[in-house]
Amino acid sequence: MFKTISLPASSPLLAQPFIFGVATASFQIEGARDTRLPCIWDTFCQQPHSIADNSNGDNACEHVKYWQQDVAMIADLAVDAYRLSIAWSRVLHQDGSINQQGVDFYRNLLKALKARNIKTFVTLYHWDLPQHLEDQGGWLNRDTAQAFADYTDVVSRELDGLVDSYATLNEPFCSAYLGYEIGVHAPGIKSQQAGRQAAHHLLLAHGLAMQVLRKNCPDVEAGIVLNFSPSYPLTKADEHAAMLAEQYHNQWYIKAILTGAYPALLNQLSDTVKPVIGDNDMAIISEKVDFIGVNYYTRIHYSRTADNWFAEAELKNVPVTDMGWEVYPQGLTELLLSLHRQYQLPKVYITENGAAMADTLTEGCVEDIERVDYFHTHLNAVHAAVEQGVNVQGYFAWSLMDNFEWAYGYNKRFGLVYVEYATQKRILKQSAKQYRALLKQRKK
Ligand code: FCB
Repeated sequence: MFKTISLPASSPLLAQPFIFGVATASFQIEGARDTRLPCIWDTFCQQPHSIADNSNGDNACEHVKYWQQDVAMIADLAVDAYRLSIAWSRVLHQDGSINQQGVDFYRNLLKALKARNIKTFVTLYHWDLPQHLEDQGGWLNRDTAQAFADYTDVVSRELDGLVDSYATLNEPFCSAYLGYEIGVHAPGIKSQQAGRQAAHHLLLAHGLAMQVLRKNCPDVEAGIVLNFSPSYPLTKADEHAAMLAEQYHNQWYIKAILTGAYPALLNQLSDTVKPVIGDNDMAIISEKVDFIGVNYYTRIHYSRTADNWFAEAELKNVPVTDMGWEVYPQGLTELLLSLHRQYQLPKVYITENGAAMADTLTEGCVEDIERVDYFHTHLNAVHAAVEQGVNVQGYFAWSLMDNFEWAYGYNKRFGLVYVEYATQKRILKQSAKQYRALLKQRKK
């Protein structure tokens, strides 16, 4: 167990221009439910048995109230950058007009970050679709892609000069597969056809938004954040199954974006499941990106099913986090090298990486040694990939602070900072102190 977070002194991660940051997302921290439109997660939280602790995002970390102290806390961590997301439901009214109060909130937040010399990495969509759009079909309705481009147009004008880096979407896999295909996330739809169609419309939304960003802010970098849980075969006989899972869950997104084509697996899907794809869609989807954001938490093993498809298989006796996810840092090196071999990658940021652990607050301290070890081993895994030629230029710890962990509610804690929800007190965990110590070592 590593008790500090360290990197070799000569590591390129400790030199310019490598960026270290922390990340959050709007619905998970903001609260202030009454000052924005309802979104699909508000609705989903009301459905019985959808959230493990029956909670919701009404208050979360009350970041809308405490944002100034949160910015001071981010600055205190000595990070170069902060990755946040904008809530679509906070910046637009239902008729498409601007919610000035919402826009002002983000403007003030971004200005405060800039005043402290912290780079602003803005994600435009981290799963919180306005409910009125879901009522029109949500991501199953092609018009939602255009609505996202229109929203992007408003945001990029209103926040002109305040954003250093735009990501269109966070993890379209989760929105599409978890939300529309297996229904464990909002909006809770369970249909393979819906999952594939939602994925396509999300990617189309990404491409259309890229065009808007290029036009409105050509000097600001723009890209997308994708999650990867690399697929491994449980046994030798499961190699084909793992390859199918890899195409279905991971390559589906990156391949479309970087090459303008879906994996060959598309052709194996029945006509009732295949998404409807417009003539020019793949060209729009593969609009050139400046970066790919990679979110990595774990790998997944697969075994072959009787109908020659794939199913998740659990490895026994491996170290896991509080989510039950295997701790496998080499997977991050292997993932980066494999993407590097398969594609002409633009620059890469690790936009999320972190671990939920069963933290305890004892005498005002959280000794989260397992999380410290997780960050140490995963940062060294990034270092190993960079040494082998992968162009990674930044790393964002997930998350700045404990927050609403989607279907798990507040029971799973991913923060560097502990949140005592009853008082909204923030307490730096050992991992936050170690992360800061590593960043302060750098001569910048
Ligand atoms: C990612 C999400 C993020 C957080 C982490 C644990 O899939 O992007 O919001 O929930 O998982």
